[in-house]
Amino acid sequence: MSTQYEHILTSRPNPSVALITLNRPKALNALSTPLFLELNKALFEADADQAIGAIVLTGSEKAFAAGADIKEMKDKEFSDVYKNNFLANWGELSRLRKPVIAAVSGYALGGGCELALMCDIILASPTAKFGQPEINLGVIPGGGGSQRLVRAIGKSRAMELVLTGRMVSAQEADQWGMISRVTDNVVEEAVKMATEISSKGQIAVQAGKEVVNAAYELTLAEGLRFERRTFHGLFATKDQEEGMTAFVEKRKANFTHL
Ligand code: CAA
Repeated sequence: MSTQYEHILTSRPNPSVALITLNRPKALNALSTPLFLELNKALFEADADQAIGAIVLTGSEKAFAAGADIKEMKDKEFSDVYKNNFLANWGELSRLRKPVIAAVSGYALGGGCELALMCDIILASPTAKFGQPEINLGVIPGGGGSQRLVRAIGKSRAMELVLTGRMVSAQEADQWGMISRVTDNVVEEAVKMATEISSKGQIAVQAGKEVVNAAYELTLAEGLRFERRTFHGLFATKDQEEGMTAFVEKRKANFTHL
């Protein structure tokens, strides 16, 4: 990951994990178009890197991201946002094959909350605050919040967040099943989890992500069939042979991602 960026930082806490840090501290990591273009580039670069098994996305102590950049949006008109399909490229994160873990501290509001929801796993520090305050700006979520929240926490709670703009604490988000867990040292924990995922066979990890995500799109019968077919397909991999042989031989598996 050699590209130099202006609005994000990229690093490799270890050879198998990419860490992307949103870096507009003065604007509480407001998600401007230039930031998103850089983020998408870094995400796809990490996704294509054979050595990387999982990606961690984080912000600062004060803000994961305080939403879409209101100053950038303020004077936009319908003809502009509609013709240019404003925010359409935000969803690109969800096309990634490798798992993305959001490590959230501080504000995750509006587009920031939506960005976290696009990730595969959310870890939050006790300071995290989630919310969809767009209603206070005379608009509604535009980065997937209304749809992903309903699936994550149900209609009533999603409706409350979208219609009142109320922020919820990390603890409440945890109780609601919106995140995996609350933890101190959230970036460290996320990198640890990403490292653990990276130690597995990449084909099985990608297949696992694909089948879990399919649960959003398919009926139960279709989803179960898709899961079983994908499971069957893994018997064509060397990693399946190695994983099961290693178990029988009482040793650690050495996955080659083949
Ligand atoms: N866009 C642009 N700038 C933002 C911003 C945003 N979303 N959020 C914060 N900032 C800027 C502030 O304007 C301020 O800049 P200046 O110093 O130049 O004035 C700086 O970040 C610090 O912010 P505050 O002084 O407001 O910090 P605070 O600690 O008093 O409050 C906050 C923090 C509660 C998060 C408050 O900044 C806030 O309410 N931000 C807006 C949150 C919001 O409405 N997000 C939704 C955006 S719309 C959206 O995301 C649409 C969508 O679905 C895609």
